[in-house]
Amino acid sequence: PMNLQGRNLLKETDLNRDEFEYLIELAERLRHEKRAGIRGQRLAGRNIALVFEKSSTRTRAAFEVAAHDEGAQVTYLGPGESHLGHKESIADSARVLGRMFDGIEFRGSAHEAVETLGAHAGVPVWNGLTDLWHPTQMLADILTMRDHARKPLEDVSYCYLGDGRNNVANSLLVTGALLGLDVRICAPGELQPTAAVQAVATDLAAGSGARTVVTDDIGSAVLGTDFVYTDVWLSMGEPAPNWGPRIEQLLPYQVTTKVLGASENPAVKFLHCLPALHNRDTDLGRELGERYGLDALEVTDEVFESPASIVFDQAENRLHTIKALMVATVAP
Ligand code: CP
Ligand code: NVA
Repeated sequence: PMNLQGRNLLKETDLNRDEFEYLIELAERLRHEKRAGIRGQRLAGRNIALVFEKSSTRTRAAFEVAAHDEGAQVTYLGPGESHLGHKESIADSARVLGRMFDGIEFRGSAHEAVETLGAHAGVPVWNGLTDLWHPTQMLADILTMRDHARKPLEDVSYCYLGDGRNNVANSLLVTGALLGLDVRICAPGELQPTAAVQAVATDLAAGSGARTVVTDDIGSAVLGTDFVYTDVWLSMGEPAPNWGPRIEQLLPYQVTTKVLGASENPAVKFLHCLPALHNRDTDLGRELGERYGLDALEVTDEVFESPASIVFDQAENRLHTIKALMVATVAP
């Protein structure tokens, strides 16, 4: 069996293809146990730190419930609730937390912060989202695709439309390249993944046989794809005044019924890491709706609520995959 004990997950490339696939299979087994009402004790007596410099619903909830399901305790240190990076260097906080906890989740802005934490903690560190990568999201997304694809994973193709420079877009490009899939990132030129991120994907694709495409052409990007994926047009921490220009740039990339139809695949499914602005039922949705006259941003309500949408399966899979990650890296 695979041994990932003591390992960090700071970015997707911390795992090789076999290790990534092992975590997906472990998540599937743990999901099966949970659904059968079997509670594990694989993390009994362990303590897990959850350090969030940004807010979260899914990631935090998944870490907490997953830890409790396997017998571990968690300590949540929310935005502004610890000295990390403010009154104390990240390297110092890492060494302190590493003396007390058996594993540390970190969500923040600068990716270097989680790298520093991982280098100094001496216990597994998991990236719960930075400006560059969202690796725990990828575990859930690949499990969800495996669940819904009516073919082997290596034949799966997915297309991400929208802000191609954010953490989720970067991670989707690199994950598909790592696993040998057919990945398309569709975004206007200024919002395509940086040359550095594309280079990582190109290198991985050469070894895995993945097909990776970065384009601004929606029709060719979506054609023949199994999954259409989008994310918010402005990520956490980006300045609010950018909404206007960003909406103007990305409105053509909104996921509509027509865009899904352009896949010419009647079984095409819709994915979104969430949270999503698909109606005016949020403070932000109302504010942007009134200001720009829009009922939805990155995805229409029609698509979000359609049978093609598997976003809540995807959200649930955050729990099972994060559990697999903690069990694989922390359990004896
Ligand atoms: N998808 C995701 O990471 O959601 P949260 O911000 O709610 O954790
Ligand atoms: N790109 C989004 C993802 C949220 C889960 C953000 O960083 O805000």
